[in-house]
Amino acid sequence: MRKFASIAAALVACFVASAQAQTFPSKPITIIVPFAAGGPSDVLARVIGEKMRATLKETVVIENVTGAAGTIGVTRAVRSPADGYTISFGHLGTHVVNGAIYPLPFDLVEDLDPVTLLGANPMLVVSKTALPAKSLKELIDWVKANQNKATFGTAGVGSGAHFSGVYLQNLIGTNASYVPYRGTGPALQDLVAGQIDIIVDQASNSLPQVQAGSIRAYAVTDAKRIAAAPGIPTVDEAGLPGFHVSLWSGLWVPKGTPKDVVGKINEAVRAALDDPAVQKRYAELGLEPPPPAQRTPEALRAHQKAEVAKWWPVIKAANVKP
Ligand code: MLT
Repeated sequence: MRKFASIAAALVACFVASAQAQTFPSKPITIIVPFAAGGPSDVLARVIGEKMRATLKETVVIENVTGAAGTIGVTRAVRSPADGYTISFGHLGTHVVNGAIYPLPFDLVEDLDPVTLLGANPMLVVSKTALPAKSLKELIDWVKANQNKATFGTAGVGSGAHFSGVYLQNLIGTNASYVPYRGTGPALQDLVAGQIDIIVDQASNSLPQVQAGSIRAYAVTDAKRIAAAPGIPTVDEAGLPGFHVSLWSGLWVPKGTPKDVVGKINEAVRAALDDPAVQKRYAELGLEPPPPAQRTPEALRAHQKAEVAKWWPVIKAANVKP
């Protein structure tokens, strides 16, 4: 009798899940962005969210849940119902690096189901315009000469701006301090205002301010220049060969979200990535969309696992503490 009851219960659960999947979405969907509004993660989530709305014919809300380099927002997503109505926006920092730094109450790989990669952008080494340095070499000399007072803006320990800053300072042998913000959106505002000196920031965040002349760019952390900013040299050209960092972003859902619901969300993101207006926006921001073959949940899972294998030993060896 008990065996029959549990089989019946499982059948009902399957029936409910597939009924839910068939009607998905039937209410607004929330994308949790674990950094402040106006920053690179927020801008990217809004560009994609706007187009997903059209395909899914449902409201897509962006909710900024900030703090601890994104761990607060990701924790909120992990603990949300696995029904497709809560999506976790993240990147190399939040969904890889943080797992090697913070004692997270969940498994970054196993407790979230992947939806798709969203693309990547290189970082830019930028500073306030008041600094005397006019080249990357001069900036490195300036940091070496002023490491007791120089400040690097970040979005918290483990964020993209933080681990890129640590990587740069390890390469040049300095130990200037980091100023944490709830995102590189507010950090950039303080850089423009001259409150902090340097950010190793996502190109998509800094480029508009570089083009406006309100901050100075020294190099892009890639082997090739950004099409939207051909005047900014690569780190290889500017004298710090190999300092390559590409910050990739993606979308996940809570573990156990029905596969066909994940499929519908994935489809909506693919449609957004194929949209000419989105492609134009990506180009303006220096963002590289993922190749079509890399737009599957499996591809994100494989990429995340490979990045964990690559970065965790480095970060654990560097003994980075939250
Ligand atoms: C942001 O949106 O603020 C960034 O993604 C933060 C970072 O990781 O640097």
